Amino acid sequence: MTTLVDIADPGLYASGDAHRVFHALRDADPVHWQAPSGDRPGFWSVTRYADVNRVLSDHEAFTSERGTLLNLLGRPDPAAGRQLAATDPPRHDRMRAPVQQALNARAVDLHLSAVDAAVDAVLEPVRRSAGSVIDLAGVFRLLSLAAVGPLLGVPESDWPRLAELAAMCAAEDDPDVQLPDGVAATLQRGHRELFAYFADLVRDRLRRPGADLLSVLATMRFEGAPLPVGSVVANAYSLLLGAAVTLPCVPAATLSHLAEVGAYREWAERPRSLDTGVEEALRFATPGRHFVRHARHPVRVGNRDVEAGQPVVAWLAAANRDPAVFEAPDRFRPGRRPNRHLAFGSGRHYCVGSHIARRTLRLLFGRFLAEVADVEPAGPPSRVRSAFLAGFKHLPVVVRLRGGAA
Ligand code: HEM
Repeated sequence: MTTLVDIADPGLYASGDAHRVFHALRDADPVHWQAPSGDRPGFWSVTRYADVNRVLSDHEAFTSERGTLLNLLGRPDPAAGRQLAATDPPRHDRMRAPVQQALNARAVDLHLSAVDAAVDAVLEPVRRSAGSVIDLAGVFRLLSLAAVGPLLGVPESDWPRLAELAAMCAAEDDPDVQLPDGVAATLQRGHRELFAYFADLVRDRLRRPGADLLSVLATMRFEGAPLPVGSVVANAYSLLLGAAVTLPCVPAATLSHLAEVGAYREWAERPRSLDTGVEEALRFATPGRHFVRHARHPVRVGNRDVEAGQPVVAWLAAANRDPAVFEAPDRFRPGRRPNRHLAFGSGRHYCVGSHIARRTLRLLFGRFLAEVADVEPAGPPSRVRSAFLAGFKHLPVVVRLRGGAA
């Protein structure tokens, strides 16, 4: 079976059965070679927690500078050395320090009331749905910019278009997102528009710096000089994308599962498990299913020999359901502890936005659990067709509000 499945096929993820494939691969062939196909080169896939953790964090053996997503395989990464996610230590660490400072817990506190207001607005359609069917995937899509919009200081009127462009760059295989001219044209258009958008804003911030993250990037010093404008724009793009496409996946995947198995109330009736429940939601959803590294030199992974230059795809989604680490991994346990999930990655590239992501999700789930007594499915959900993004396109449900309202 393992030789027949193309684990990079976006169609596999639209069906929702990917975890069956991950479990089978982890058991039978945990370091799996996928043969070349068309112009896509061959690549290794690791699905065990220990191997995924090692590949993500061992930057001596694996580089991030040759592309970190499957859709870049076989092509040079134009962001190499210019963008945090595509730069190796020690350069990476010097570039990351000011960004990390601008996103640490104290800095995030400054933006929290704006984020809270945006989260509150996201939930308004749920309050108004009163007994009728509502598409929660559409509701949570508005969460895209709730965290990063205030942080980057981009005007609220631009949020919907930015969310659309971010989807074009991260879920380019999905027919609802893809332009008529195909995948390459979709990616190109998304990149071009976002880069042009940020280039304009950066020029503005250079003239009038403010307290937002874009101003930090535009005015920071890197290796004794200002960060080049191209690099500022590439990092702004990465911060937007890192937040916009991932956050909506977490409540959508969690509530889809809880509604389907009738377990929503188990969490909603335990308000003290908000923090552990959010970690479980992150593990369960794992919005970015994979990240790629390339071997710098011959290296042994599990019982296989990886040659210098070969790509290794670390499947975070599989690692987060590894029964060697998580008991009953396919069950959502709101009180799960410990919960050392890899949804934010591992090592030096560990998500720099993890504080704001956690705070935003706690605000969202905190309000949702307090206001919604139960969630019931009202039709089959549909998922984004993407090997990277674990997103939902439609999630029809009926919610029952607390205090008796339907
Ligand atoms: C639930 C939400 C999120 C998830 C699941 C997530 C996941 C991840 C993962 C797995 C990585 C590591 C990639 C690698 O190792 O190659 C990462 C890195 C990154 N994330 Fe996030 N992320 C989230 C939210 C955010 C937010 C809100 C921001 C921005 C405010 C952000 C910005 C970034 C950036 C810039 C990097 C690169 C960091 C580096 O290379 O040093 N992410 N994220």
